[in-house]
Amino acid sequence: MNMASDNYIRVAGVEKRYGGRETALVLQDINLDIKKGEFISVLGPSGCGKSTLLKCIAGLEGTTAGTITARGRVIDGPPEGLGMVFQRDMLLDWRTILQNVLFTVELQNKITPAMRERASAQLARFGLGGYEHRRPWELSGGMRQRASICRALLTDPDILLMDEPFGALDAMTRDDLNVEVARIWQETRKTVVFITHSISEAVFLSDKVVILDRHPGRIVEILDIDLPRPRPLSLRETPAFGRYSSHIRQVFMQLGIVKDA
Ligand SMILES: Nc1ncnc2c1ncn2[C@@H]1O[C@H](COP(=O)(O)OP(=O)(O)OP(=O)(O)O)[C@@H](O)[C@H]1O
Ligand SMILES: [Mg+2]
Repeated sequence: MNMASDNYIRVAGVEKRYGGRETALVLQDINLDIKKGEFISVLGPSGCGKSTLLKCIAGLEGTTAGTITARGRVIDGPPEGLGMVFQRDMLLDWRTILQNVLFTVELQNKITPAMRERASAQLARFGLGGYEHRRPWELSGGMRQRASICRALLTDPDILLMDEPFGALDAMTRDDLNVEVARIWQETRKTVVFITHSISEAVFLSDKVVILDRHPGRIVEILDIDLPRPRPLSLRETPAFGRYSSHIRQVFMQLGIVKDA
């Protein structure tokens, strides 16, 4: 098998400190190989460096040691073909939903009538057909995150980075969007790195779950999730699913991150 396509994203010996060498270590010795079309979740407590790792992969932050390559090329700035959904939805209040979805391509002077049509079609597909000309503050949290996903997918990137996109949503909306993300992945086989605090969200969506400890952020375990796809929500009630969740919970308990009754 071709190595370049096998390891689509490679994080090798990455260390990250903010603000110079004398400051606290945020990420230590991160090694991670992500295959093309894989869905990886990164799970860890608040402050362990999940967003930092994602920003390094996105080329928005540099590393203080180690290298990150995507498609065989070292990342030293935002690469082509990468879409990102941030922890906050980052929609601009003074722009309509359609204008928000088109914002990134507009910055790149790449707006074409075809791109507008694609944006509209995508919004319709995400249940936002009637909201193109509304402002973000007229939408619910779930609808806003749907719009952010539309924006990230507009140019059909083959790598999708998602930083806790559903952390602020209620459980039902979150379930709904988990199913949506799983469907997009099933249809497009994009390479996805998904950050979350939720054990069940990570198990439900992923091929692999990367478990991080904090201070400094480091990988404790990379767990393969060998569950059939497509995955219905009811899969979460099966013993196999429960075994994965329980294993991850125990890892966090051993690390003192999760405490039991
Ligand atoms: N731009 C920055 N400058 C200095 N320190 C930063 C910066 N961004 C993050 N940090 C620090 O790095 C550490 C990791 O932050 P990061 O945002 O990556 O954590 P996280 O795992 O995403 O947390 P959460 O789950 O709360 O989103 C924190 O201690 C944070 O204060
Ligand atoms: Mg974060």
